[in-house]
Amino acid sequence: MSKVDVLLGLQWGDEGKGKVVDVLTPQYDVVARFQGGPNAGHTLEFNGMKHVLRTIPSGIFHREKINVIGNGVLIEPCIFKGEIEALKEKNVDATQNLYISKKAHLILPSHRLMDAANEQSKGKSKIGSTLKGIGPAYTDKVARTGLRVGDILSADFSARFEHLRQQHIQMARMLGFDVESFQLEGIPFAEYEKRWMESLQTLRQFRLINSEYFINQCLRDGKKVLAEGAQGSMLDIDFGSYPFVTSSNTVTAGVCSGLGIAPSSIGRVMGITKAYCTRVGAGPFPTELFDETGKRLCENGHEFGSVTGRPRRCGWIDIPALRYACMLDGVTDLFVTKPDVMDDFDEVKMCTAYSINGQQTDELPFEFNDVKIEPVLQKFEGWKTPLAGTTSYEQLPQRLRTYLDAIEQHTGVHIMAVSISPDRKDVLFK
Ligand code: GDP
Ligand code: IMO
Ligand code: MG
Repeated sequence: MSKVDVLLGLQWGDEGKGKVVDVLTPQYDVVARFQGGPNAGHTLEFNGMKHVLRTIPSGIFHREKINVIGNGVLIEPCIFKGEIEALKEKNVDATQNLYISKKAHLILPSHRLMDAANEQSKGKSKIGSTLKGIGPAYTDKVARTGLRVGDILSADFSARFEHLRQQHIQMARMLGFDVESFQLEGIPFAEYEKRWMESLQTLRQFRLINSEYFINQCLRDGKKVLAEGAQGSMLDIDFGSYPFVTSSNTVTAGVCSGLGIAPSSIGRVMGITKAYCTRVGAGPFPTELFDETGKRLCENGHEFGSVTGRPRRCGWIDIPALRYACMLDGVTDLFVTKPDVMDDFDEVKMCTAYSINGQQTDELPFEFNDVKIEPVLQKFEGWKTPLAGTTSYEQLPQRLRTYLDAIEQHTGVHIMAVSISPDRKDVLFK
């Protein structure tokens, strides 16, 4: 019986999960997404090509590997169809090696309407959602009113769709939202709904399976399974900076419920962190930089949302948050990405504790959003050496090694590898 290895983000998302999954896929037989939906944007680069995946696991470019969209994931059929078509343009026929859980929930156009209505009604306390309908679709899942992928095969699908849609429209109106002028992807809502219905045809071309049976059978057959996280641990619905979070369990525990495997079937947990920190959308970010250094991180790191294009907020690495994520996730191995972004920095800083009302702590307070948190910063000399062209971990500049050693010491987790460019080939295993 083999186990499911997990790869997930330890920060506020966009740590480089897509790239790393793509790099690790040759070691696995199956790659499975377990939560989230098209709020994710996972970037892969190889052979001079760049590709962004939303719902589809990042193992899809390895044709001999099976990719699974698990029951914990949300699928927006129009966005999914767009992903499939973009893959086709790159000569990847995903119908052959992508299986979809019948229990995965659907994002309806009216969930996206509700997302927009909810955000508008929050005024200044907006979450900064990607507006892909994630919150409302998970709400319906929990309220036991949602529609699942397997339902598209049933005769009463249209009636159930219409019933739910009417509810959403009524709720949006109650929130004072202008439903009549609402547009999705630049087209009127009603027209988008038609496209959505048509794109169910694309979904029907895939193997719709009971993925919990499939994954457990793979484990019994000794196959190697990699679970790919979306978002990051600090966006977890229970442990993230609530309410500035996403609506799913992004931590390792989500793998069990999102794929239907037992906790004892979890193997290694690989956690990814950037060498610094970013966040997109609203919510607390103790190490955020509002100065030139923050701008340089954003520019050097091309820190713009892969889904929304929004500039990402940037700051120093946050050890209390990282330790918290390592604890919640049971991280066995760390993966550090993007140190190359700080190649030309004279000095690099690391937040090792928080100072709150003059008291130092290395724990995240309950009042994360409402207190003024001063980061306690440890300084490191910049390595001032381009990392491009480095081919082994041992070749990394000593000053960067010192910085990486400090991350290991503070988290108590060893670093498995470092990524030094967006490209598949630039990963240095320790
Ligand atoms: P994900 O959501 O965790 O998969 O991450 P995103 O794809 O949203 O954002 C990560 C961005 O950083 C992408 O544009 C990647 O191409 C890029 N990237 C990944 N690893 C590295 C790295 O080591 N160095 C640099 N400079 N860029 C990287
Ligand atoms: P990947 O998988 C970064 C953020 C949004 C917003 C909050 C809630 O690419 O790392 P939602 O759309 O879920 O209602 O948004 O969570 N967010 C992400 N930030 N990377 C992501 O995914 C994210 N998915 C959601 O910006 O603040
Ligand atoms: Mg992303």
